[in-house]
Amino acid sequence: MVILKSPKEIEKIRVSNQIVANILCRLETEIKPGIDTLYLNDIAEKMASERDATPAFKGYKGYPFSLCTSVNNVIVHGMPSKKILVEGDIISIDFGVLYDGYYGDAAITVPVGIVSGQAMRLAQVTKEALYKGIEKAVPNGRLSNISHAVQSHVEAAGYSVVRMFVGHGIGSSLHEDPQVPNFGKPGMGVLLKPGMTLAIEPMVNEKGYDVDILGDGWTAVTKDGGLSAHFEHTVAISENGPIILSERNGS
Ligand code: CO
Repeated sequence: MVILKSPKEIEKIRVSNQIVANILCRLETEIKPGIDTLYLNDIAEKMASERDATPAFKGYKGYPFSLCTSVNNVIVHGMPSKKILVEGDIISIDFGVLYDGYYGDAAITVPVGIVSGQAMRLAQVTKEALYKGIEKAVPNGRLSNISHAVQSHVEAAGYSVVRMFVGHGIGSSLHEDPQVPNFGKPGMGVLLKPGMTLAIEPMVNEKGYDVDILGDGWTAVTKDGGLSAHFEHTVAISENGPIILSERNGS
């Protein structure tokens, strides 16, 4: 069941997402060759606690960290570790918080130093695909219009969208209905209405879309070893169209 949110609730979801956006922005400035990903996890935890926000992922289905750090061929749910980032890597950082009863959830992919043109383009196309999807988050549209817009943009660029993981409704739970796939025909799924809040999160692979899960039970990697990128925003559907709640400064 899709839960519609009141303007007051959407304001709370915005506050949570602004905490996430500010923390991601700070983490982005820390990403450079020579750091490890546990360092990023620790900063995220410290910043969340300074803002009285609870990291949303730690303990979720047993996930042991606050941040997901997905490097190169890791699609999502990469676990922070002592492994050092090197020039040319790309890393997705995915963070969520619970604050005042509501969740925020967002992710960005960041280059480590100077990266290949291909890696840069993969990240750029993934971000563009997210915004193409967001444009379709309008009242009276169908959910799969979002999915289709993401897939079309990705495939036109010669990349593939991951099927195994999807975006989701978000509110007083981290994951609510509806699921938001990044692929599909347009005109299907629930009718979009003002008050819906969706986390839209394309995961885009350089080569094939097939996924392997590593022995830790979490780390999702590309089966063919190709690169992968991931961007996520939490979006509210208003009478006037989409409002990106996790864009910094609410703008
Ligand atoms: Co999410």
